[in-house]
Amino acid sequence: MRFPKRQLEVIVKQICQKNKIQFKSLSEGFILQLTKNNKTEYLYGYNFPCNNVTSSKICDDKAGCSEILTQNKIPCMEHVFFMDGFYKDEEVLAIFKKFKNDVVVKPNTGTGGRDVYHCKTKQELLNNIKKVLSHSINFTISPFYTYDTEYRLIMYKDKAHIIYAKQRTTEWRHNLGLGAKVNEYVDSNTVKKLNTIAQRCVKTLKIKFCSVDIAELKNKQYKVVELNGGVMMEKYSLANYKKAYSLYERVIKDIFAI
Ligand SMILES: Nc1ncnc2c1ncn2[C@@H]1O[C@H](COP(=O)(O)OP(=O)(O)O)[C@@H](O)[C@H]1O
Ligand SMILES: [Mg+2]
Repeated sequence: MRFPKRQLEVIVKQICQKNKIQFKSLSEGFILQLTKNNKTEYLYGYNFPCNNVTSSKICDDKAGCSEILTQNKIPCMEHVFFMDGFYKDEEVLAIFKKFKNDVVVKPNTGTGGRDVYHCKTKQELLNNIKKVLSHSINFTISPFYTYDTEYRLIMYKDKAHIIYAKQRTTEWRHNLGLGAKVNEYVDSNTVKKLNTIAQRCVKTLKIKFCSVDIAELKNKQYKVVELNGGVMMEKYSLANYKKAYSLYERVIKDIFAI
């Protein structure tokens, strides 16, 4: 085994034991094979078979997703797409100027805050694009927004089942894997506003099970940062195992109609 066992595998295995579902871990735990009543289903990475594949792919495509959300007047961070080999530095620099010389560059389908860079000079931007392109075939540029809190809503069937704030510590990015902390106390007024935005996102994208990340900007303005078509709760489940377990269980039971 080359990879450490994921919390997802630990939780899903328990769910299967409890619900008499046959469980098999394949591909070093990346694929989980579940069988019950002559029906076999697969979990792949953090993706569940209840999602439509195109909806899920759009969620994971930061530029594509933000374009669709914008078209539907849902407030989100703009992500301008560039493909390796198909752009000119002048185009990048024009966007840098448009975004007031303060931008974030990242891979279009990245995750975990990996290769996400804040750039304030042309040179920084061009150097960081090279870094991104050493691992990815594309990148996006967004205006940089100053904010303290980012919220995550885990949506299933048009409803938020888990909501928490990600509080940064020493890092500027809000990824739990980079040290941000889970805070489950979110006041009801904020919950209401976040819910409205996240529900609009999932209805627009026709995604059943996903996460929606929303930044809280100045004056309690909200903007969607990104969606994820796979639902990862590695760090969250350490903070609240019960809630992570219940939600995954609910999804799996629905998949087998039990
Ligand atoms: N445009 C932006 N302005 C300010 N912070 C940003 C911006 N884009 C990303 N970030 C920060 O970087 C983190 C990771 O970016 P994100 O787009 O969520 O990529 P990933 O899929 O790698 O998590 C965010 O949680 C946020 O803290
Ligand atoms: Mg993120």
